[in-house]
Amino acid sequence: MSRAGTIAAIVDDSISQRAASIRPSATFAMAARAATLRAQGREIHDFSAGEPDFRPPTAVREATAAFVREQPVRYTPVAGLPALREAVATHLSAVHGSTITPSRVLISCGAKHSIANLLQALLEPGDEVVIPTPAWVSYPDMVRLAGGVPVEVATTAADGFRLRPEALEAALTPRTRALVLNSPGNPTGAGYDAAAVRALGEVVARKAPRTWIMADDIYRRLTYGDFRHASIVRTLADLHPRLAIVDGVSKTYAMTGYRIGYLVASEALVLGATRVQGQTTSGAATPSQHAALVALTDPTVDAEVDAMCLAFARRRDLMLARLAAIPDVHVPVPDGAFYVWMDVRAYLGRDPVPDDAELSRWLLEAHGVATVPGGAFGGPGYIRLSYATADAVIEAGCARLVAAMAALRRG
Ligand SMILES: Cc1ncc(COP(=O)(O)O)c(C=O)c1O
Repeated sequence: MSRAGTIAAIVDDSISQRAASIRPSATFAMAARAATLRAQGREIHDFSAGEPDFRPPTAVREATAAFVREQPVRYTPVAGLPALREAVATHLSAVHGSTITPSRVLISCGAKHSIANLLQALLEPGDEVVIPTPAWVSYPDMVRLAGGVPVEVATTAADGFRLRPEALEAALTPRTRALVLNSPGNPTGAGYDAAAVRALGEVVARKAPRTWIMADDIYRRLTYGDFRHASIVRTLADLHPRLAIVDGVSKTYAMTGYRIGYLVASEALVLGATRVQGQTTSGAATPSQHAALVALTDPTVDAEVDAMCLAFARRRDLMLARLAAIPDVHVPVPDGAFYVWMDVRAYLGRDPVPDDAELSRWLLEAHGVATVPGGAFGGPGYIRLSYATADAVIEAGCARLVAAMAALRRG
């Protein structure tokens, strides 16, 4: 099923073409349906979540409460609280092994907003953005909203769902303005090591003089086993003027609802993105910015993040072990994030599950297991399962899933 086919378009005279062309996020839609069924008293095992189930670090929670209780909550400068821009610059300078000045940092309302601002500031109408696919549901719509053209380039299981340099080269045109690199990635969990990043960077350097590389590093800290996140700044020094990094507190610090993300790019691009932000949101919420400052600077926070990562690593292994009981599905071992990307093609094509969308619906409605259909990510034939949930939910939900898939097999 095509991505566009997964969710009905809005047909109403009062709605602009721009708004009508945008699809709501399939992940939010699935989570909402699961919540509705739960409210009706159904037991639901939810593998649809795109957010950690942990609470934010203790110091963050305490500082947020104290700030709101004791301080006036006023506007900050559009580009963000100066102390937070400074803290992000210091933090990411260490991560990327290169001095990042606060003037190259823009604080926004979540990484999604950072990406939206960047695209609005970077793209001319018709500019193309290469998106290795399967990919996070929002990239193509955000590119379209910014007047650009998403160019989805399929990756394969054989390549570990990583974009091959030759495929990138074939996708480049004079209109290519950006390449999206999401590592480790949603929905596959695949990560690009330094050699893979370098190989893609070489193609951009050789063939695409006006193309930026945008690293979506939102899952950077959540990596498991031997995989280590590779910084585009460290790896692609010669492309430095055309590198943009999107990062944030949502996943690393379990602060999705705080809505704080950050963009690092050239001063000029950050200024452009700041203008866009200034006439749309005026900036991110002040208490959230203070909370993010604590997340990045309080010395007690790291230990809690490490504990969360360990829990995710354990749950990843637990989920992979349980899913191994389902015959004829292929599940690559994710390098990071908190998703498992399961090839269910052997089970599709007949009643009651002609495709992944129907399988996902059937698993939820008939078996109480919430997943997200792969078509939403440009990966039909797959479903995404999130292991950002308790071990007990993984155990019980996988047991249901194994039973449901066995029933499908028996047909
Ligand atoms: C790949 C990717 N990028 C960005 C985001 C958005 O992050 P935020 O909640 O900070 O806007 C998500 C959230 O699911 C994501 O999966």
